Amino acid sequence: MASSKDPIIVVGAGVIGLSVATLLQSCYRDAPITIIAAETPTTPSPSADYASMWAGAHYRPVPGSTPQLKQEAQMALRTAERMERIADESPEAGVAFSMGVEYLEDPPKEVAGLKTGDVYASPNDGFRVLDQTELPAGAKWGCEYRAYCVNVQPYCRWLLDRFISKGGQVILHRLSSAADAFDFARQRGLGRVKTVVNCSGRNFDQDPKVKIIRGQTVLVKQQYDKTVTRQNRDGSWAFLIPRPRGGGTIVGGTKEIGDPETHPRPETRQKLLQQAVDAYPDFVDSVDKFKILKDNVGRRPWREGGFRIETEFISPERRIVHGYGAGGRGYELSWGTAERVVELVNASPAAKPRL
Ligand SMILES: Cc1cc2nc3c(=O)[nH]c(=O)nc-3n(C[C@H](O)[C@H](O)[C@H](O)COP(=O)(O)OP(=O)(O)OC[C@H]3O[C@@H](n4cnc5c(N)ncnc54)[C@H](O)[C@@H]3O)c2cc1C
Ligand SMILES: *[C@@H]1O[C@H](CO)[C@@H](O)[C@H](O)[C@H]1NC(C)=O
Repeated sequence: MASSKDPIIVVGAGVIGLSVATLLQSCYRDAPITIIAAETPTTPSPSADYASMWAGAHYRPVPGSTPQLKQEAQMALRTAERMERIADESPEAGVAFSMGVEYLEDPPKEVAGLKTGDVYASPNDGFRVLDQTELPAGAKWGCEYRAYCVNVQPYCRWLLDRFISKGGQVILHRLSSAADAFDFARQRGLGRVKTVVNCSGRNFDQDPKVKIIRGQTVLVKQQYDKTVTRQNRDGSWAFLIPRPRGGGTIVGGTKEIGDPETHPRPETRQKLLQQAVDAYPDFVDSVDKFKILKDNVGRRPWREGGFRIETEFISPERRIVHGYGAGGRGYELSWGTAERVVELVNASPAAKPRL
């Protein structure tokens, strides 16, 4: 374990920044850890850019053979392990395991080759390929497995509260760049900061590889008992994500690349509800029966080529460890990402324990 006492700054209080800050706290017990963020889980009306407030969120594996997907699969497994512990030990955190079901109208090769018993979401996830007779009309492939869902606001709030109760500090402030955190920290009397972790999602808008994917969903009062996802041939998605501890169910959702609209579109709400009725009549069988709690619009901080997890020295004494670009997978990759970011913090000379 590293024993450095140097202060560390984490920029961002989304699910990634909060997970990183939490893990740093357990590795660097003597170092002051400070989060600087424009918005936090206690911000009353979070913006669409604060993605963590708008996610479903469920764990839905994405099988594939590209290096990026393979790496994400590893991070997802690590995350599932920790989420299992959180669900067991801290039910108030808003994480709960349930059945996950998928229906695909047009399954890609990687998926069509999966067999019952394969490790899909985690070891012992009970993965089972559905029989053709179990599939709804139009679906060509389906499966079920043990997954988890996160009630995102209480979960982020829980992470934040734990971070503060263990001595972490949070400063509400909008920086003009993650690099400004070094001077800002000095002005605030936080000492000579050599390490800044950049978990800013997408707000700085300096990385041309980062794009937004707009997502609109509807939170309804009715509670479903599993999370289901249907991918249609036309590229649309119909999913239900029950929020643990009676938080209702997320009915979704859109994936609109580059669409800047931050307001919910009424016609989209109507379409999402109709889709849900068509795909899951056992949940709610007509649109007018939905008890609507809230329309959600969020921007997924998507990055071409995937997550940026790397160290950048902006001077010999100042390094930024990046952890951004989670796209639509920030929750399900959160702990795996945090572990890799903390490894980078440990690895690099600026934070080596002084002898
Ligand atoms: C509709 C929808 C559904 C989703 N469903 C799922 C799902 O089912 N499963 C899943 O795993 N993921 C899901 N996601 C994706 C998930 O929400 C994101 O991947 C995740 O929230 C990204 O977290 P983050 O911490 O990187 O960024 P954010 O949550 O965006 O946090 C960024 C933080 O950085 C701060 N910040 C930014 N700029 C500055 C600045 N200039 N100065 C100071 N602070 C700054 C912000 O204030 C904030 O605190 C979904 C997203 C959407 C929109
Ligand atoms: C920090 O993250 C943002 C994404 O929010 C990115 O645009 C930027 O290039 C990163 N680095 C710095 C120094 O801000």
